[in-house]
This record gives sequence, structure tokens and C-alpha cells, in this order.
Amino acid sequence: MFAAIETSFDETGISICDGDGQLAASLLASQVERHKPYGGCVPELAARTHLSDLPQMWKKLHPDLVSQVTHLGVTSGPGLPGCLLAGVNFAKGVARALRVPVYGLNHLTGHVMSPFMPDPADRGVTTPPEVPYPHLALLVSGGHTELFKVDALDRLTLLGQTHDDAVGELLDKISALLGYGYPGGAVLEKLARTCPQMTADARYDGEFKLPVPMRGSGDLNFSYSGLKTAVIRVARMGDMTSEELLPAEKHPSLLAALFATVVESLWIKVNRAVEEHNIDLVTVSGGVAINGFIRERFTAEANRKGNAVRFPAPVHCLDNADMMAWLLRLNVEAGIDPAPFDADSNWNPGLPV
Ligand code: KG4
Ligand code: ZN
Repeated sequence: MFAAIETSFDETGISICDGDGQLAASLLASQVERHKPYGGCVPELAARTHLSDLPQMWKKLHPDLVSQVTHLGVTSGPGLPGCLLAGVNFAKGVARALRVPVYGLNHLTGHVMSPFMPDPADRGVTTPPEVPYPHLALLVSGGHTELFKVDALDRLTLLGQTHDDAVGELLDKISALLGYGYPGGAVLEKLARTCPQMTADARYDGEFKLPVPMRGSGDLNFSYSGLKTAVIRVARMGDMTSEELLPAEKHPSLLAALFATVVESLWIKVNRAVEEHNIDLVTVSGGVAINGFIRERFTAEANRKGNAVRFPAPVHCLDNADMMAWLLRLNVEAGIDPAPFDADSNWNPGLPV
């Protein structure tokens, strides 16, 4: 059995999976409500909450299951330093007590491998296939917007990344401005879905025109601060200093324009990477990969091109320890030995091109 601990940001997770990757335990304590009053995650509060939640959650695991754990993994980067430290120290203590090897795992690789987890809806009926290499991985979350070429579990090449805001960060900031709170992605999607000018493959033809960022940049990078400014300008009725906001009945249309523009910008770069690298399997992972507009447009484009696109189950998009237990299992199966590690808040798994 493979047990993993995830505390890189504001979710505390402990999960255990078996040799087929089927989950035997999946515990997740969300801190979202705790951070809501502050309009975003407060690092010190998150770290303290992990410290108090971890031992309580570990105690909830059945002793018979714990006695079957052969390997332990913990997210050791990237993430908030205090949060990572809480998980890493706890995991090292547990590994010593259980006398099992402990692996420091990369959170971003966890997201990148999550589309290949057994589908929870399948309830263990089929054995998951081998992860196919090479493939392209788009990771879109609150802190990251990155495109990787994945040649092996431990060989990711960073093809492109955002110069400034991540997609989730953009959505969270627009949500805060329009008064829909934190985190914003899900509520903004719900509103945008009510806009009649949004097509089934997430194209928008309505009153708001937004610039598609980095369309002609000639590389595989992204940028969302210019788009954020453009949306804020519309939301503030054309005057950046104005306190008066666009009337609420126009929000669905503006948000539909925003999602269509974001999805277009993501697809342009992914399509370019598909052609440049001649790779026809693309995955999309991270919290923003829950988004239906991305799924609809990418699936429509892949069908048109004859490519394959793969997403994690929605329950495995936001931060969770299930994906880290799966990553641990993949590491052990690939014959990778545990190595000494510490928390590393800036650990990017992708080698530069
Ligand atoms: O992967 P994640 O849990 O955290 C990071 O590692 O960053 O992603 C959280 C992000 C937030 O920015 C949130 O607004 C976004 O995922 N998100 C969504 C949706 N649900 C959550 N974005 C777009 N559409 C959604 N339905
Ligand atoms: Zn994440």
C-alpha cells in the first residue's frame, strides 16, 4: 500500500492506494472557509492548520490499513514553505515509526500524472493502463500555468509558462473585484454558463471584445495580466479609478467573454506544441482543469484534429493527496529509489528546453 501526504497550499490530504492505484483511503480537509474572510490564502494560518489537522486525520485511518503501508510519500515542493514543512516533518516522523521508506514528491508532477489515475466512477473494475510517453501536459491552477513535454515520470521539459498571473489567479482576482469571493473559478463558470452567447465548444460571440493574450508571441508562453487589466477596465465602466461597477446582469456576458478568451489562448499554445513536437496526446490538469469550457473546447479541437485529450476526474483536479499516492505508486513501479529530501518551495520539475 502507498500512503501520501499533501500540504503544499490550503488543503490537508492523506490518501492510500494499492498496487493497482485503487484508493483504499482518501482524506481531505479543505481550509477554504478559514481563508475566505481574508480574500485569499493566509500562509501562516494554513501552516498552523496543517499542523493541527495532520495528526487528527492520520488517527482516522484504520490500523489494519496502516499496517499494510509499504511506502510513504509527501509533497515536498513547490508550495508555501511553512505548509510544506508541516507535511514533510510529519511524514518523516510517520515513516520512522512505520519503518518504511519516505519519498519527497513534486506537487506539479502529481497534477501532471493525475489524468492517468483510475477513474473513481469505474470502482476498480478495470486496471489502469500504463502512462503513455511522450505526451504534452498543460497544468492550469491557482499558482501555475505551465506546458510540459513529458518523456518519463522524472523527465519533464518546460515548454512554456506564464510570464505573470496564473489562470486560476486571474479568475480569483476578477471574482474578488466583482464581489463573488474566493476562490472564484467555480462561481464565475456558473455565471458564464447562463450567457446565451456562449457556444457548446466555448466560443463567445457577444458584446464584449477581449484581446487574446500572447496570440502572436511566437513561443509557448502565456500571460494574463494584460487580460486582467482589460477585464477590470470593462468591469469599472472604462475608468480604472471608478468605484461604480458594471451592472450584475452584464456579468455573465463579460465572464463568458473572459472564459472564451482564456480557453482560446490556452488552445493556441497547446496546438502549437502539438504541431512543433508531433505529439498527439495532451493532458490538462490542476484546479482550473475542472472547468467545463476548457474540457468542451479542447475535446472539440482534439476530435477535429484526430488527437487525444485527457483530463483527471473532477475530484482529482483541485489539490488532493489521491494524486500524490498515485504518483508515489508510479515512482516505486518505475524502480525509483527514495532519496534524502527537504521542503523546497520553488521546486519546478521541468527542465528548461
Ligand atoms: O490546483 P489548485 O487546487 O491549487 C493550486 O495548486 O493552485 O487550483 C485552485 C484554482 C483556483 O484558482 C480556483 O479558482 C480554480 O482552481 N478553479 C476553477 C474552477 N474551480 C476551481 N477555475 C475555473 N473553473 C472552475 N470551475
Ligand atoms: Zn495544485
